[in-house]
Amino acid sequence: MLQAFLSDARLLELAARYHTPLYIFDEATIRARCQELKSCITYPNHRIRYACKALTLQAVLRVVLDEGLWIDASSINEVHRALRAGFNPSEIYYTGEGATKEVYRDLIDRRILINCTSIDQIRLLGSLKTAAPLRCSIRVNPGEGHGETNKTNTGGPSSKHGIYLDQVEEARKVAASHGITLIGVHSHIGSGTDLAHWLRIKDKTLAIARGFPDLEFVNLGGGLPVRYHPDDERMPLQEWGAALSDSMAQFSKELGRDIRLLIEPGRFVVAECGLLVAEVQSVKSTPDYNFVIVNTGHNHNIRPAMYGSYHPIRFIPADGRPAGETKPHVVAGYLCESGDVFTVKADGTLLPRDFPTVAVGDVMVMSHVGAYSHAMKSEYNSMNLPASLMITRDGTVTVVERRGNLNDIMRRELEAYGEGRVSM
Ligand SMILES: Cc1ncc(COP(=O)(O)O)c(C=O)c1O
Repeated sequence: MLQAFLSDARLLELAARYHTPLYIFDEATIRARCQELKSCITYPNHRIRYACKALTLQAVLRVVLDEGLWIDASSINEVHRALRAGFNPSEIYYTGEGATKEVYRDLIDRRILINCTSIDQIRLLGSLKTAAPLRCSIRVNPGEGHGETNKTNTGGPSSKHGIYLDQVEEARKVAASHGITLIGVHSHIGSGTDLAHWLRIKDKTLAIARGFPDLEFVNLGGGLPVRYHPDDERMPLQEWGAALSDSMAQFSKELGRDIRLLIEPGRFVVAECGLLVAEVQSVKSTPDYNFVIVNTGHNHNIRPAMYGSYHPIRFIPADGRPAGETKPHVVAGYLCESGDVFTVKADGTLLPRDFPTVAVGDVMVMSHVGAYSHAMKSEYNSMNLPASLMITRDGTVTVVERRGNLNDIMRRELEAYGEGRVSM
């Protein structure tokens, strides 16, 4: 989809006009993913919440809002960004590890539903004075997880997330002692979860939820896989949606009341909507490797360096020359970090890929960077943040976030010294 609007000539033009590095996001892809999800869950009492930590730009939140999705937020600032984009408080759900009293106060005052992730957080909630009776859900760790690596695994004994299943009973007692009604059970075991695993965790979560007398909903989390690499399996979404729908219909029948199903995908909604565009600054070699150095790095997409994640990469010759001989190259960033490499395994082993001759000035196009790339960006090495463009449904290009500059990097410091703008 993204490619339909973006010929190589157009990409070169956008790179020249808006500077590199540059993020480009595609509205049509986000809408297509939302619609795909909506079409495969037939159980009527369900809601899809977009886990907005994946990509939190206002332009993206507004598209998701227009598609009728709700929001899963992981910080108070994500909550405020969602409110600003137009979501109602009742459409936002908060799951944050280690929230402070001030955060919970703000959430309660705004009537935003809290998902407590530990027994201590239930106690914290119970300590707050409120006019209305307190209600919340709890995040449970169902005893097993899933993820590309241990770093993305959010369940099982090695995970800090949620209340471990053997402590759920204690959580219920603590909630009851504070007069808190537990209305939901939530689990999220990690990203890239396959169908069989998803369905097993669904069963485990429903088994836990069965013991909650005031249960109104079950939230089965996110983690729907995305095909980053051509060898990655596709999730059979229709089968997945049908299995969830059947289970929930049966569960509601068994409990004799209508229990709402929630899911909260992040990457599935946005991963494929994004490109990271950069310029080749150098092509060099050691006795063992050819390196292509581009003017971006793990400050703009940390996934390869952090998880060894694969992202499709190609180069557009700036001079229109025909593709030359193919050679293996390691694609690396411009940061002063050895780990600033895009073609790499999680343990740091370099993974050269074959590319036709690459030259200085060529434009690198890295795809599938919609999720957890822009969202995890940093100003490391005092590098300016890229601008973000949105290609709207009719192909119009809109700047949805301007390029960063030195003033952005130093703003809070300058305020601390009572100084004004820096010269650029
Ligand atoms: C609680 C929770 N829900 C949903 C998600 C979204 O996961 P994904 O982007 O893999 O769908 C995450 C991701 O970290 C999460 O922590």
